[in-house]
Amino acid sequence: MQLQPATMDDLALVGRWFDSPRALTLWGGPRLGYPPEPARLAREMDWPAAQNLVWRRGEVPAAFVQLFIRQGRRHVARLAVAPADRGQGLARALLSELFRCYPREDFSLAVYEDNAPALYLYHSLGFEVSGMLDDAPGCLMMVRLHDR
Ligand SMILES: CC(C)(COP(=O)(O)OP(=O)(O)OC[C@H]1O[C@@H](n2cnc3c(N)ncnc32)[C@H](O)[C@@H]1OP(=O)(O)O)[C@@H](O)C(=O)NCCC(=O)NCCS
Repeated sequence: MQLQPATMDDLALVGRWFDSPRALTLWGGPRLGYPPEPARLAREMDWPAAQNLVWRRGEVPAAFVQLFIRQGRRHVARLAVAPADRGQGLARALLSELFRCYPREDFSLAVYEDNAPALYLYHSLGFEVSGMLDDAPGCLMMVRLHDR
């Protein structure tokens, strides 16, 4: 699996993977606006310290993830798989690839407590709940320590 930098067109496509305001919020937090406009997505997501990455099936993005450093940990944000590609192990493969690329790093992420598929996945890969996110009600912080 090779992750590549996301283009503006990729971001716009990823924004269309969510079919309701709630689905969009579960993925990207409350500030994106529904339906997401590409310019606003770029404003919220395309900042210098963040890597926006896609995994392509052929030319077309099938999975997306944002990475940045938060409190000394590799923070995994806005992980998403294209609706037609879900349930086939892509998210598990993508995260496993990140652990392989950064074997000596601790990881963190935030996930809403009612996002059952994502919670199941993260628990199964060794993430543990470390607290609640201050500015997003119902959002858990999880960490995965490399030397656990
Ligand atoms: C969460 C998400 C990234 C998972 O991607 P995926 O490629 O479908 O996940 P995988 O196929 O790798 O599945 C990983 C595990 O989650 C489980 N899972 C997947 N979909 C599930 C569902 N709808 N309900 C319960 N468990 C589910 C699978 O059983 C799998 O476990 P297994 O390997 O033991 O069978 C995907 O559902 C998604 O894009 N959701 C919308 C965006 C989102 O909420 N992102 C998370 C932000 S924190």
